[in-house]
Amino acid sequence: MPEHPASLNSLKQSLVNPLLEQMTLPEKIGQMCQVNGAGGWVPEDLAEAVRNGQVGSVINEVDAETVASLQKIAVEESRLGIPLLIGRDVIHGFKTIFPIPLGQAASWNPELVEQAAGIAAIEAACAGINWTFSPMIDISRDPRWGRIAESFGEDPHLTSELGTAMVRGYQDNGIGACAKHFAGYGASQSGRDYFTTEIPENELRNVYLEPFRAVAKAGVASFMTGFNDLNGVPASGNEFLLQQVLREEWQYPGMVVSDWESISQLTTHGFTADDREAAFEALNAGVDMEMVSRTYADHLASLLEEGRLSIAKIDAMVANILLTKARLGLFDQTFTASVSEGGKQELALEQARQLAAQSCVLLKNNGQCLPLRPQQLKSLAVIGQLADDGYEQLGTWIFDGDERLSETPLQSIRAHLDGVAEVRYAKALETSRSQDQSGFDDAVSVVEQAQAAVLFLGEESILSGEAHCRADLDLPGCQAALVERLSRIGKPLILVVMAGRPLTLAPVLEQVDAVLYAWHPGSMAGPAISDLLFGLQSPSGKLPVTFPKVVGQIPIFYNHKHGGRPPSPETVVHIDEIPVRAKQTSLGMSAFHLDAGYQPQFPFGFGLSYTRFDYRHLSLSHTEITADQSLTIEVELENSGDVAAEEVSQLYVRDLVGSVTRPVKELKGFQRNRLLPGDVKTLQFTLTPEDLAFYDRKQQRLVEPGRFQIWVGGDSDAELTAEFELK
Ligand code: NOJ
Repeated sequence: MPEHPASLNSLKQSLVNPLLEQMTLPEKIGQMCQVNGAGGWVPEDLAEAVRNGQVGSVINEVDAETVASLQKIAVEESRLGIPLLIGRDVIHGFKTIFPIPLGQAASWNPELVEQAAGIAAIEAACAGINWTFSPMIDISRDPRWGRIAESFGEDPHLTSELGTAMVRGYQDNGIGACAKHFAGYGASQSGRDYFTTEIPENELRNVYLEPFRAVAKAGVASFMTGFNDLNGVPASGNEFLLQQVLREEWQYPGMVVSDWESISQLTTHGFTADDREAAFEALNAGVDMEMVSRTYADHLASLLEEGRLSIAKIDAMVANILLTKARLGLFDQTFTASVSEGGKQELALEQARQLAAQSCVLLKNNGQCLPLRPQQLKSLAVIGQLADDGYEQLGTWIFDGDERLSETPLQSIRAHLDGVAEVRYAKALETSRSQDQSGFDDAVSVVEQAQAAVLFLGEESILSGEAHCRADLDLPGCQAALVERLSRIGKPLILVVMAGRPLTLAPVLEQVDAVLYAWHPGSMAGPAISDLLFGLQSPSGKLPVTFPKVVGQIPIFYNHKHGGRPPSPETVVHIDEIPVRAKQTSLGMSAFHLDAGYQPQFPFGFGLSYTRFDYRHLSLSHTEITADQSLTIEVELENSGDVAAEEVSQLYVRDLVGSVTRPVKELKGFQRNRLLPGDVKTLQFTLTPEDLAFYDRKQQRLVEPGRFQIWVGGDSDAELTAEFELK
């Protein structure tokens, strides 16, 4: 897909401008309208609208033949023959389902994420889709928000790296990507979807906008505006975001689409009085295409007639859409219903298995309870509905997912232990939300007869994703009671959590011996989890988001500011330790909660392995650099355990003094390496001045001279540290 300004310019000259010159106003407005498909057939009114040039894009039409007939009408029967953008939410796979994006983020593996997006693109293109509404790169620091499942978590650097990998995966394999939701949507107050966001401009720029800046630079085909109002101005009518930042500062050449009816919702926000004003504000702000609502179709012509809008503005926006179509090669395609490519399914499933395995995070492993050793295991209990539900393991966005491809953990565990050990299964609960404990007795008897038990608990997929927010993050229903009951039996209990978000695990953590956090792993949940349980692979996922102990700690994220009274283990006082009538000043006087301290349950970047990794000999190429110099950081990594494993090593930086206060740590690099037992490897990271830049008080991006501290290690609590100075 051409991105270079020169090739974009030549596309404009050769294709876009000549077309624009021939277009009537209704045809121009038509390009700016996206309509909802009928789902498998072409109703006459849709055919007529396409024929008349009143439609620029169709969403939610995934039947290859229907799409082909729509494209044929657009190309052969409409006056100018402009092909349609066919949009669909292809978010974590199409037929083959990969882990939810939050799970993919836990792999910290851009290469696998890119490959997964590539497979999704190829599968989706077979259904005629040429545009996906992904990646979702909203920074998400609130696990109550259901859409955290669709995100890459809390960190701008990790999100930027994985977001650009996904964009490459889609766009190198024939479909356009869409960066969403621009911007700040992840900061919905109290984690309630569609709700207000208030983000100071400096934080907006340094945190929330960074991934969008990265994908804009990487040539993402389109941006989608958010449902949220940001600092009082809804994102779909936000001139600051869409004009100043996106077009002027970033010089973004792609197109902008609204979210579903988010233009007409400007009125619901109380930002505009009616649809007509909504159309005016959205257009003025710079939303090129309207998704589903009809305010552009109904009002742009008369707004133009009244002189409130200029034709030059409309032309520029239509040009963005036509240029996107040209970049995606739509003008060069012949539209026939593609036949699905045979023979690729196996490869897709193998990729899904790898990504699912790398996305699982081992959070606890007491007494090396995992991996399970079949040689010593005569019987294993498997408990929980999520152990054997090919649908629930798939996750949130699975419109087109093929459940028949699912292999469940129970199936894979049975296959692995076939002829070696006995596997007994009890569902225990009908759903993750169930309050009915009548299945507990059966589960108890199954566990009593086994040497160990693997419990598959968590959330069904419908409990996360769009509009599915929770205020309580404990295991839903009576799952904690089940754990409690089973823990009394005294057998080793291994908890596998499938969920769309971080859950507060404190109530069950002490009652189980091991915890493997699997998110919603997708089609290949079974083989991926079974490989890890039986040690065919060592877990290597790391948390892309901080896990709170209790909901009241939210927001809790690793890259927070230092504050003037930072807490430390010495300053923390627990509520039960406060002497009666203690003097106000005798207690802590630092930033912590009396009942939860200040530390999370599990820090960002955390994840255990079946081996041990040691970091040592951290060295810097320079102790002083200038603003045009890079710094090379070296560290020795040793696999000092006795199994081969992969480790995600992480580089963090703190800018010790800034003209605006800087985060206590910021991820600036990471790499995944496989080491055999006893292997020692010297890892290299490079820090460029660009990596140290940030937006200052005047919202200028710059590098300030001063001292910086760095850390390298296996999570955000890394201790191996060094300092350097930027002159
Ligand atoms: C609404 C969601 O917010 C957005 O992410 C999605 O792409 C659109 N609907 C289209 O389905």
